[in-house]
Amino acid sequence: MSESSSKPIRIPIDIGATPTSLVVERGGAARIAQTLADAGIPVADRRVLLVIDRNVSAVAGRIATSLAGAHAHVAVIHLDATEAQKSMRAVDDIWHAALSARIDRGGLFIAVGGGLLGDLAGFAAATFLRGVDLVQVPTTLLAMVDSSIGGKTGINLALPGGGLGKNLAGAFWQPRLTIADADLLETLPARQLRAGLAECIKHAIIVGEPLFSNLNADAELLALGDPSAIDRLIPSSAAVKAEIVTRDPFERSERAKLNLGHTFGHAIETVRGLDLLHGEAVAIGLHAACTCAVSRGILPSATADRIVRLIERCGLPIRLPTPVAVADIEHRMGFDKKNQGGKLRLVLPRAIGDVTIEQDEHPESLHAALTAIAARGE
Ligand SMILES: NC(=O)c1ccc[n+]([C@@H]2O[C@H](COP(=O)([O-])OP(=O)(O)OC[C@H]3O[C@@H](n4cnc5c(N)ncnc54)[C@H](O)[C@@H]3O)[C@@H](O)[C@H]2O)c1
Ligand SMILES: [Zn+2]
Repeated sequence: MSESSSKPIRIPIDIGATPTSLVVERGGAARIAQTLADAGIPVADRRVLLVIDRNVSAVAGRIATSLAGAHAHVAVIHLDATEAQKSMRAVDDIWHAALSARIDRGGLFIAVGGGLLGDLAGFAAATFLRGVDLVQVPTTLLAMVDSSIGGKTGINLALPGGGLGKNLAGAFWQPRLTIADADLLETLPARQLRAGLAECIKHAIIVGEPLFSNLNADAELLALGDPSAIDRLIPSSAAVKAEIVTRDPFERSERAKLNLGHTFGHAIETVRGLDLLHGEAVAIGLHAACTCAVSRGILPSATADRIVRLIERCGLPIRLPTPVAVADIEHRMGFDKKNQGGKLRLVLPRAIGDVTIEQDEHPESLHAALTAIAARGE
């Protein structure tokens, strides 16, 4: 991995008693002690636990060197980032590493990894000694623009009937700081990078211009991982999430808009055998949400076409890769934990820059959406 540098961009996230922020800076991980000091988080004589995704282990040395140079006492735990590993057992491993490192209430956890590791380490930080400081160093595009912002942490639970229930136990725990260092994306597989673009498209549909046009202009470059296009994207996309969670930290109203594409996406993601990444399922879910909105007469079809073309140009799927029974997806959508009062809650676009939360049942439009995303030839 190269070590470049860029002028840091600071995005404030004023939630709760202690304001937090996101710093977007190439080379930020290697200069973490300075970045923390600049944000009013000194590390001298502090006990720090680095919780790191095994696939980015190479970064641990750089971060530990920076922290040790600022006289922190650093311990490291490396973990596999799989959904099965996002469990109480892994939380227990992190707690034990923290005990061995003699982390006290003044200690600090630093989570280095994708959204999975960030959710897991965040939950361990929220609960260890009833809560220790947390800093997020996301290493996937999805985590940089989405999951490391807003304080949702959690683990999966084994369901009584078998299978994994995603994010069923968790806590809101705001990181003191998130450092988005795009140099860390150099080792990220291209498919994972493109999956992160789905959340960026979602943000662009929610917020509108100029983000949508900018994303449109850069789509092919982004699909190829062009560093300048990535640098243009991260701060503007992350800012959408930061602004929404600042206004509605506990998802009482506006934050629910961030579930655009996700009611369909979560249902698709859990179908065994499709092997879709979260972002890929969200991309298909965005297509479904557009079709549903057109069918209800609340979105012009030309706007839906514009969105769907953008999804495709970003190298993301708009249909299921293999046939799945429509009834199966409908059934799974009924179990989405974001539903309220037994009614399906759908976030639907009305225009680019205008999304609405719909709670009324509308079987024909749901059916139209699921037909549109069916595998070709079905
Ligand atoms: N907390 C939230 O608000 C929120 C929001 C969205 C998603 N999530 C959660 O985030 C998780 C998905 O996160 P993700 O998309 O970042 O994927 P991930 O964390 O599962 O990482 C994907 C894969 O890439 C590897 N990886 C990560 N960074 C790498 C790098 N720089 N180089 C090489 N390999 C790297 C990981 O080890 C893993 O194998 C899910 O568990 C989801 O539930 C949470
Ligand atoms: Zn998502």
